[in-house]
Amino acid sequence: MAKIIRLEPIAQETSVETNGNLLSVLINKDLDVLRECGGRGMCATCHVYVTKGMTALTPINRREQHTLEVITSCKANSRLACQARVIGDGVVVELPPGMYINSLQDVEALIGRRAEQNLLHPITGQILVESGKTDHPFHPKTTQ
Ligand code: FES
Repeated sequence: MAKIIRLEPIAQETSVETNGNLLSVLINKDLDVLRECGGRGMCATCHVYVTKGMTALTPINRREQHTLEVITSCKANSRLACQARVIGDGVVVELPPGMYINSLQDVEALIGRRAEQNLLHPITGQILVESGKTDHPFHPKTTQ
């Protein structure tokens, strides 16, 4: 059975099958989410804020928690869209600014050098991942 999801600040509603993930919702709305890790919960480029209905999503798993911990913009209502599956009604998702921009080459270049320098938000310049983080989700020990 389909669940209705509301996306802010673009004020759009869409539906997803029960147990579908939030990333599929964003993609179905033609939002250009980078998905650097291919939806494996390791990059945080699908980071969103859940402003309502957190309990209507599957709980945060260990990998998601680990990845969220290195994002400086992480809040109590942060989720990775690729890991959060919709199991109930009433979910409202807030998209961080810059999530759906089209020119991503500069961002990808930054990610390629993430071990050497800070990973910056593509629009605000906010530091998402600090340089020198040894416990990074892309670290070989945590890559499967
Ligand atoms: S696409 Fe990489 S964490 Fe979701």
